[in-house]
Amino acid sequence: MKNHFFFALLFLSAMALAQPEESYNYDETKVPKFQLPDLLTSFSGNAIETQQQWEENRRFEILQFFEKQVYGKVPDRLDEYSFKLLEESNDAYGGKARRKQVAISLKKNKRTITYNMLIYLPKGNPTAPVFLGYNFYGNHTVTTDPKVPITEAWVSNNKTFGITDNKASENTRSVRTHRWAIEKMLDNGYGLATIYYGEVDPDKNDFSDGVHQLFYQEGQDKPKTNEWGSIAAWAFGLSKAMDYLENDGNISDVIVFGHSRLGKAALWAGATDKRFAGVISNDSGCGGAALSKRKFGETVERINTSFPHWFADSFKKYNDNERTLPVDQHQLLALMAPRPLYVASAVEDQWADPKGEFLSTHYASKVYELYGKEGVTATNMPDVEQPIQKTVAYHIRNGKHDVTDYDWEQYIVWAKTFTK
Ligand code: GCU
Repeated sequence: MKNHFFFALLFLSAMALAQPEESYNYDETKVPKFQLPDLLTSFSGNAIETQQQWEENRRFEILQFFEKQVYGKVPDRLDEYSFKLLEESNDAYGGKARRKQVAISLKKNKRTITYNMLIYLPKGNPTAPVFLGYNFYGNHTVTTDPKVPITEAWVSNNKTFGITDNKASENTRSVRTHRWAIEKMLDNGYGLATIYYGEVDPDKNDFSDGVHQLFYQEGQDKPKTNEWGSIAAWAFGLSKAMDYLENDGNISDVIVFGHSRLGKAALWAGATDKRFAGVISNDSGCGGAALSKRKFGETVERINTSFPHWFADSFKKYNDNERTLPVDQHQLLALMAPRPLYVASAVEDQWADPKGEFLSTHYASKVYELYGKEGVTATNMPDVEQPIQKTVAYHIRNGKHDVTDYDWEQYIVWAKTFTK
């Protein structure tokens, strides 16, 4: 007994030391008392009882709130967009896959941006379902395939990868293969479509480049208060990629996937574009799947301070003020209904608040029930690596903030229950 006490003390002091200087709450007993806005009661207090009321009233008002007050609105339509098949081959992955590389160009006000999508499709069937997801450092980082060009776009510096001048070099080829179980996907009949997110909008607090500036009026140098931050810009890029994918001819369903900040973008893409057949959030945390009102791990104030460009400016009024938010992230998740949704967490990723991510799936499930779909009914988190896989799915795995083979194995098994 004494020993237990001693080790508990030692553990607690180690935790205290591990806390960053400004302290974030990793203590469940310090989670404030909060009330979650009810999914099935409208802002004006009406009960929502049918699918139709959900879709026409409640879903619409929630979507609008997130659009204006959280992620920000896309200011206008594009003047034009186009796709160009840059390259195609039948012998990728030792002959297992076909590869296509497609340039997507978006045009507005005589300005253009172009980003490249890398696609691998399993051979064997004329069409295959694909996972569509952004990568963090360039398409060339997800594969050993020498035919994938190094991105020329701005990339974040990274000591481990030897990136010091915001430029990716040949040395960064294949540095992120462990996050993309491409062969597993192919062997199970799935393809992958991936894009470097920085080609759509470089991830820095500067709105002079990327997709935002296409829409500026003369003299404008950043989006307006209720307009899009970077997360909404990335989501928009995924939607335009979907415009290509749905017409490719060799692709059936598209499941949008994202890790961390890109998981936030995948969720917002799934919410705003119903063509995505399923949505996967891997460790998306604050502003993604995690409930904001718990203020556990990363908080609204913290994320808006470290990454002032991610959300609409209007979201900043909820800094240290989560209590007054008329929505929470379970409502974002509910916007996917009745489409399959998977939220995953990792034990050592407390920053992303695994419990808040789990609870969010539980509360969102109420809307799935309106459609006769099964969600996460449990109120307690499942054991580690004991996935719950219904139309709404959740798992927590061992390890850190990352995407692992374990994660992909679960996504693939689950996807097989609904993809064509
Ligand atoms: C930071 C940030 C998170 C984000 C993560 C990531 O940790 O605080 O909100 O999800 O970066 O994208 O890896």
